[in-house]
Amino acid sequence: LSVDASQASARKISETMFGISFEEINHAGAGGLWAELVSNRGFEAGGENVPSNIHPWHILGDESLLIVSTERSSCFDRNKVALRMEVLCDNEGANICPVKGVGIYNPGYWGMNIEQGKTYKVVLYVRSLESINVSISLTGSSGLETLANTNIVAANISSWSKVEVRLTPRTSDHNARLQLTTAKKGVIWFDQVSAMPLDTFKGHGFRNDLFQMLADLRPGFIRFPGGSFVEGEWLRNAFHWKATVGPWEERPGHFNEVWQYWTDDGLGLFEFLQLAEDLGALPVWVFNCGISHSDQVDSSTILPFVQEIIDGIEFARGDPNSTWGYIRAAMGHPEPYDLRYVAIGNQDCWKKNYHGNYMKFYLAIKSAYPDIKIISNCDGSSQALDHPADLYDVHVYGDANYVFSLAHKFDRTMRGGPKAFVSEYAVNGKDAGRGNLLAALALAGFLIGLERNSDVVEMASNAPLFVNENDRRWNPDAIVFDSYQVYGTPNYWMQQFFRESNGATVLNSRVQSKQASTLASIIASAILWRNPDNESSSSSTLSYLRIKVVNLGINMVKLKIVIDNLKPRRSVINVEGCRETVLTSANLMDENSFQHPTKVAPILSPLKGG
Ligand code: AHR
Repeated sequence: LSVDASQASARKISETMFGISFEEINHAGAGGLWAELVSNRGFEAGGENVPSNIHPWHILGDESLLIVSTERSSCFDRNKVALRMEVLCDNEGANICPVKGVGIYNPGYWGMNIEQGKTYKVVLYVRSLESINVSISLTGSSGLETLANTNIVAANISSWSKVEVRLTPRTSDHNARLQLTTAKKGVIWFDQVSAMPLDTFKGHGFRNDLFQMLADLRPGFIRFPGGSFVEGEWLRNAFHWKATVGPWEERPGHFNEVWQYWTDDGLGLFEFLQLAEDLGALPVWVFNCGISHSDQVDSSTILPFVQEIIDGIEFARGDPNSTWGYIRAAMGHPEPYDLRYVAIGNQDCWKKNYHGNYMKFYLAIKSAYPDIKIISNCDGSSQALDHPADLYDVHVYGDANYVFSLAHKFDRTMRGGPKAFVSEYAVNGKDAGRGNLLAALALAGFLIGLERNSDVVEMASNAPLFVNENDRRWNPDAIVFDSYQVYGTPNYWMQQFFRESNGATVLNSRVQSKQASTLASIIASAILWRNPDNESSSSSTLSYLRIKVVNLGINMVKLKIVIDNLKPRRSVINVEGCRETVLTSANLMDENSFQHPTKVAPILSPLKGG
């Protein structure tokens, strides 16, 4: 491998080259990154018809003790369904309640992670014509062990009243639940029941351990909220941003029909923008362009959809005195968010109305916000686009050999046109298992190819990012979690090899071998980068050379590395800085797991041979 370290042939990689793509799939947000513990907090998931299914809420007590149903009687206009609980027993008289009372409980998303010493904020809305005495408790999975509880005793609540309490559990349980119980006869209505840990990233509602996994990738951007989630199975259940902002209690939530689960939209447009800011990543908002999986808006009637997006951009970056900037400011962020990229639709290029709709969105956005970079769904890598765009979207899925071969996809792409955004890439063939070393290696080869072509590729992100182990809708994924644990698949660790590439300089490098098979299985790149962690005044000129090599072949290869034209500003090269990081394992099919989270993870050591 020869590397030319001279600046003559070097090229800067975009600051946003490697990022992440967040989709509400596999309970990535609801029951994942968004730390809300209650599932179906507003009883809305069963639909607006009543009576409705209240899953996953359960009833504690039989029909002789209480009757639970839903009604359209909430004080919240956009989510009218509330729970009515008629308690027939009492703590005296003929029909005595059980000692612990009767009521309802919510097991969260496959169990709530309740930790000793942490504090949980429980908020609920309640109404009753009589005085009430309700116990709010966090319990173990059987309901027998109480981890924390408090009682609310209230009278004069014939109008809806908000109750907020804090619970600090005495013991931990990863599979806990929230119970609302009483031993007093009467009718009580509940709505919008929320339980949140106070300990979330900066108090912004993001589960700390999952947030940290993202931060450790140092993403240059975050694409959200999907994927297919953006399109929806039908337009009526697509992600419509206006329904996801404002006070959480007033958000209607919606059925994520593509991935088959309800989301309360706690993670709405505001929270996605906040997430980007907290990660130090640029937000890339993918919006619905009037096209779902099953229906489409005709281009002649698309203007209301266009206006919705213009309003959304104003929400993100408008003045706090503007109509939508005002709402953002009221939510706690008067400064504009740094929204510079939007994508018109997801995977919609081939659909009948895409081109017509695209142009309406494009012209309206460019006229109102000329600096915003617009991403088209049509792949411009092999032929020029027939419409204006700043970037074009490419999705790459396939088996390991196929994805590895696409490392050369952009070698022959026309230079000078819009740049590529590989917004979804993954090895998802049968050979990938649930995310094994083979998949990670093939992806590493692919990313090296992108790095080598970073004059035409501006952004890239793997998909999907997260999977809750209890609802694997798509396989494989980069990060696996349940209520309390998390691990990265080999692909996740592989992505860490690229986190210094954003804004770095890619050097000319070439692999030579007499063996054609070696040439076919090896790919390499070299970058020069600055280590911000070492940016003290004395080392401000310190640069690092990083060489990444992938061998997807079956044979061990001896690699001689020659670096030409390396002119260190300092008189010596810091030998201690010569290190190697190797991602490998005994078996190509090896995967990580909750039991062995770093079976396949990078190992850092001094570079053998100096
Ligand atoms: O990443 C999973 C899915 O793959 C995305 O939702 C969609 O865009 C693609 O088909």
